[in-house]
Amino acid sequence: MLALRDAAWPVAVLDNLATGFRFAVPDDVSFYEGDVSDAELVAQIISEQGTRAVMHFAGSVVVPESVADPLKFYANNTAASRALIEAAVKAGVPHFIFSSTAATYGVPEASPVSEDMPKEPINPYGWSKLMTERMLADVAAAHPINYGALRYFNVAGADPQARSGQSTAGATHLIKVAVEAATGKRDRVAIFGTDYDTPDGTGVRDYIHVSDLAAAHVLALEALIAHPERSLTMNCGYGRGFSVTEVLDAVDSVTGARITRTHEPRRPGDPASLVSDPSRIRATLPWQPQYDDLGTIIAHAMAWEHRLAEMRSAKGDNG
Ligand code: UD1
Repeated sequence: MLALRDAAWPVAVLDNLATGFRFAVPDDVSFYEGDVSDAELVAQIISEQGTRAVMHFAGSVVVPESVADPLKFYANNTAASRALIEAAVKAGVPHFIFSSTAATYGVPEASPVSEDMPKEPINPYGWSKLMTERMLADVAAAHPINYGALRYFNVAGADPQARSGQSTAGATHLIKVAVEAATGKRDRVAIFGTDYDTPDGTGVRDYIHVSDLAAAHVLALEALIAHPERSLTMNCGYGRGFSVTEVLDAVDSVTGARITRTHEPRRPGDPASLVSDPSRIRATLPWQPQYDDLGTIIAHAMAWEHRLAEMRSAKGDNG
């Protein structure tokens, strides 16, 4: 939303605030509190705003939770998406951008993984998103709408100007958890699995700075508008992986302190390694990542963590 606003696109936000925060939306951006599956509300917003494109970020993201509660994920990520796509089609919205995921690949047959490799998710989270990709493909073949399915790898960091960042309590993302530990909000980081078939035995991921990912959305929108006959499915990652140990070491070198680490069993639903082949996004969009550096990603995540602490103490809240 900030990237769209910075690029001078008119934007309105719909969020049920289940995990989002009202403070994340600036006062000059129209905000609607509600659910993407509320067809009446979505129709009203599209008509009020003259909406020409939907960017659909809403959904549940915690992989192990999807293993424990799959129906929640099929409701929030698949059924709610279906309702939103239907509302867009009924209102004649011509462009739709969807937050998909590298979890659609499951355990990739090769690394780095490219878009055409088999999609065999190993957790309900990945399936719930892959089903929505399928719906979009079918809908784009039947109706005058094109779509961008952006397969996010591991999103991390925060807005470089510290205007926004991950704020939900009970975070599970590695970099978020690690910066919470580095800033004293938690006392240790559990390493889930040290016996993977990776160079140091811990899981390997392709961490992408949230602002580079946001920039990719703006460019994808422009490409959908320029080529209404074409839809896009693209990996969003830098094409290089870091292990859990390398991430924790990088946080330590930013702070000059050492995070306490514990070794725990593998987490259900976790593949050993997920690294993107970014050839397609590089060939399709004029995308020039600005923050492809693990230290920068961590520094921005850290700055946001300090900002959150200031906001909490201003509210007199220690939580
Ligand atoms: C993340 C996203 C998911 C996205 C996917 C794409 C979350 C919860 N999920 O999954 O939405 O589609 O990337 O690949 O962010 N780890 C630890 N200790 C921790 C936390 C994590 O060792 O406390 C390890 C995990 O086992 C994994 C790596 O760090 O190897 C990254 O985990 P995490 O940040 O949770 O993201 P993913 O599960 O990869």
